[in-house]
Amino acid sequence: MPTNRTFTMIKPDAAQDGNSGSIIKMIEEAGFRIVALKRTQLTVERAGEFYAVHSERPFYNDLCQYMSSGPIVPMILEKENAVADFRILIGATNPANADEGTIRKLFAKSIEANAIHGSDSDENAEIEGGFFFAHTEQF
Ligand code: PPS
Repeated sequence: MPTNRTFTMIKPDAAQDGNSGSIIKMIEEAGFRIVALKRTQLTVERAGEFYAVHSERPFYNDLCQYMSSGPIVPMILEKENAVADFRILIGATNPANADEGTIRKLFAKSIEANAIHGSDSDENAEIEGGFFFAHTEQF
């Protein structure tokens, strides 16, 4: 059964460029309610844990280095059809393929520094949200 929640992180490139506020505004204007939010930084080991499902992919080490290179802004978001609607709002993984008006089209620099993460399923949204936030931090 859909949870109506998704998990996102503003990635180091967008957070460092001062784009967190603009991105959060787009998220709220698209109808998502912020359930949890913080600014934090991953160690390379924690990034490796978060992306363990991709550990066999050629870009895994680079991705973990990049995701631990600066502060990030993880959030849990709520909306009907949250996972699918949020993936539409952020656009394609590679910003070169992202639709006009999407967060990645506006703020991503490359397939690695692509501004933002969005969970790909309800199950992963639950796991990923729990990676960063205790239940007592979700409102
Ligand atoms: S997705 O969104 O899961 O369907 O995309 P996918 O292609 O499976 O990529 C998984 C995550 O890896 C990142 N990625 C890369 N990082 C660095 N270099 C390259 N070449 C690369 N290709 C993909 C991609 O941004 C996804 O990160 P998240 O945080 O899940 O969006």
